[in-house]
Amino acid sequence: MNDILPDEARHWHRIESTFREIAGLYGYGEVRTPLLEDTSLFVRQIGETSDVVEKEMYTFERHGDSMTVRPEGTAGAARAYVEHNVANKEPISRWYYLGPMFRGERPAKGRYRQFYQAGCELYGDPGPVCDAEMVELAVRVLAGLGIGDLKVHVNSLGAGDTRERYRKALYDYLLPQKGALSEDSQRRLEKNPLRILDSKDAKDRALAEGAPSILDVLSDEDKQHFDGVRRGLDALGVDHVVDTKLVRGLDYYTRTLFEIKAEGADLGAQSTVCGGGRYDGMIESLGGPKVPAIGFAMGLERILVAMGAQAAAPKSTAVYIAVLFEGGVAAALALAKQARDLGVGCEVDTRGKLKAMMSRAERSGARLCVIVGEDELQKRIVMVKTLATREQEEVSLDRFSTFLADKKASITAPARVD
Ligand code: HAM
Repeated sequence: MNDILPDEARHWHRIESTFREIAGLYGYGEVRTPLLEDTSLFVRQIGETSDVVEKEMYTFERHGDSMTVRPEGTAGAARAYVEHNVANKEPISRWYYLGPMFRGERPAKGRYRQFYQAGCELYGDPGPVCDAEMVELAVRVLAGLGIGDLKVHVNSLGAGDTRERYRKALYDYLLPQKGALSEDSQRRLEKNPLRILDSKDAKDRALAEGAPSILDVLSDEDKQHFDGVRRGLDALGVDHVVDTKLVRGLDYYTRTLFEIKAEGADLGAQSTVCGGGRYDGMIESLGGPKVPAIGFAMGLERILVAMGAQAAAPKSTAVYIAVLFEGGVAAALALAKQARDLGVGCEVDTRGKLKAMMSRAERSGARLCVIVGEDELQKRIVMVKTLATREQEEVSLDRFSTFLADKKASITAPARVD
């Protein structure tokens, strides 16, 4: 779990505002759900044999209920969608969320126990066009943040009995080689053999290489849907590869699955910056109507790494007010207030001698230093120094606000990122 200090938070603001802005272009509105949900919500939706449920959830008992700190956002959003009867109010809903998620994973670069996700969920449209637009939205966000070398992987798991047929085909293929699987995968073979394709274990990976392809068992409808997704991606200019080993670690998916990797980033095994897919059965399984859904979530820490060391925007306030004597404090505060009333950032320094204050002013990145000295104040003026040129001028207290208003455009550019 990480602390995010202000210098770094500026980068987060950029990611968050880019995400919100682009989600808005596609008609998404924000949903905020609680950090805690009933444990059973995640167990049922994400799946008992998933890593998340088996090993990673922060679960505790309180008031006789088992609660879990959310490991992801999809199940909670779907619960809210059902609970508020949203399907009865609008045919299509587009929701986004931003916030912390919690998984007790083994920490590594780009893998944390508290991490942030930005996600989108669309309810009410089964068509492949949504899937393609969803992927393109995610790519637009990532590209908009300057992340190059993106690789989009897509696959289809099929719906209904396709999954079951594939499960069977995989089971039949793996059973004779059971002894060669990792311990985790031997256990999963009975309950959830698909998960084995997702395994990080080298032995499992070797076996998965020769496994039957899901694309061979897709029904005609599933195939048409998947072709539609790919045609949509082509029309939107999104390069992608079909990755038949892509199953993703959550059980709720049906049909389209996708992941976006930042190949150029120094993220090692954690290069997947975005993952998502269709989950047409979830709303109904939560007691809602038969409403199809699709979504994705991206990991903000990973995005931050993939963005690289992009220069920090100056965090400075534009005006630094140096107060040289105790009696000048009230006047300095009044000037600071005028500056902020104009929307010009400023800070007041009352600590010590002029030289030290000037050096702090320069380090702060401010454009102007306003020096409040005793002799000057008696004449109702202050000295204003332009730090870049070291030019100094006298400004009367009565004119200070007008003086600053005239300078505002030049001293506040470039705008702060946040
Ligand atoms: P997920 O693949 O589990 O999917 O997570 C999505 C993204 O969150 C990952 O690609 C990764 O960038 C980030 N992420 C996951 N775990 C961690 C971690 N421990 N540390 C840092 N980043 C992490 C979901 O969560 C689904 N709810 C996505 C979705 C939405 N599917 C449909 N709608």
